[in-house]
Amino acid sequence: MSKKEKYRVDLGVSGGIAAYKAIEVLRLLQKSDCEVRVAMTRHAIEFIQPLTFRALTDAYVLVDDYAPENPDPIAHINFSQNIDLFLIVPATANIIAKFANGIADDFLSSTYLASTAPVLIAPAMNTTMWENAATQRNIEQLKKDGVRFVEPISGELACKTVGTGKLEDVENIVAQALNLLVQSPKSKVQNSKYDDKNFNAKVNAQELETLDFGLWTQDLLGEKILITVGGTREAIDPVRFISNHSSGKMGFAVAKAAEKRGAKVTVIAGATSVEPPENVNVIRAISAEEMHRAVMKELENATVFIGAAAVADYRPVKQAATKIKKNKNILHLELEKTPDILSDVSKIRHDGLLVVGFAAETENVVEYARSKMQKKNLDLIVANDITKNGAGFDSDTNIATILRRGDKEKIELPLMSKREMADIILDEVIKLR
Ligand code: CTP
Repeated sequence: MSKKEKYRVDLGVSGGIAAYKAIEVLRLLQKSDCEVRVAMTRHAIEFIQPLTFRALTDAYVLVDDYAPENPDPIAHINFSQNIDLFLIVPATANIIAKFANGIADDFLSSTYLASTAPVLIAPAMNTTMWENAATQRNIEQLKKDGVRFVEPISGELACKTVGTGKLEDVENIVAQALNLLVQSPKSKVQNSKYDDKNFNAKVNAQELETLDFGLWTQDLLGEKILITVGGTREAIDPVRFISNHSSGKMGFAVAKAAEKRGAKVTVIAGATSVEPPENVNVIRAISAEEMHRAVMKELENATVFIGAAAVADYRPVKQAATKIKKNKNILHLELEKTPDILSDVSKIRHDGLLVVGFAAETENVVEYARSKMQKKNLDLIVANDITKNGAGFDSDTNIATILRRGDKEKIELPLMSKREMADIILDEVIKLR
């Protein structure tokens, strides 16, 4: 079910006070679904125990390939093969010098020579050592050899001096590592915004959030997804309307997930209580009528239509031009049906367009959803029982059942975040291709 592709990263830790930050780098990479193995220099183990990394990676941590307990007699070759990135955090002036000069007198430097993977180095050292002509010369040489650097930053160093040499923030190191990984041959990304030009640009924490700690395979590249989101508002008079509790969270989660996986996404958004995700085209449409019009305009460019909006089924027949006064004990509102956007999309669907609906129910969830799928001629329907705890409109979580056209089986999705559910829905959409 998972659409994440595992990237393999070798993390090299050399001997500096910043070695402890390598633990956080490791954790962030693992959260990003990377498989990480760790090698340390002899000096690094003065700062931090190999056992820490062993516990976190569940793998032997290589320090010395001649060590009797080393399970692999040619570890520096095996360790260096079939990896997508060789990342050094922190890198001392010494390890940089060894790499630059082809010295292979320990496990980490031997691995460097034996690997053909991209190399990313995050140095950390005292300012004078950093500025030393020898260090700078070695760095220049390595850059010429194609090695990438996450430059150290300026700040107060462990030796109490202030200057350049401090390890870059771990989030930025990981973001730049991910940047390199999405450009690796394993990745299907062709249009990553984290391209070469931006490589050295600082990636802030928010951007890292948008990376979503996930190296999503770009399995939706080429798809143009049109999604309706949020609730509609049907005006009674200039100040009042009929609406519902929809927040837009589920639809926006689908939009965000689809964008991450390479789709071009257009959202037709009614009333929502959350911010739309970045990098999706948002068109606002408040009433069912406006939403219908906007969808019809955008539809011909779409390859997938997802109706996640809670469209009002009825609207006042007449909208009062001025505010209705409180001069009657009983006020009758006459309501008429709104256009059913999803049904209309299905009716005029072009070749290759996949149509996905949602069904918010309070009883007989699966039966009602199945009949909606048939009536509206859908490929897939996501049904919610909105009375369940953890499911429903303003919640960050959801519980749902996915039904597929021509398939008696149902996919039960237990309580999970809307973001996670969005990915599973998209997995099912992709299977329909
Ligand atoms: N929908 C739509 N246009 C409407 C009403 C609903 O596009 N005017 C879409 C919703 O976006 C959702 C699906 O139809 O994808 C089902 O919506 P729902 O409100 O559950 O069903 P209805 O068809 O309105 O039926 P009912 O209210 O009778 O359950």
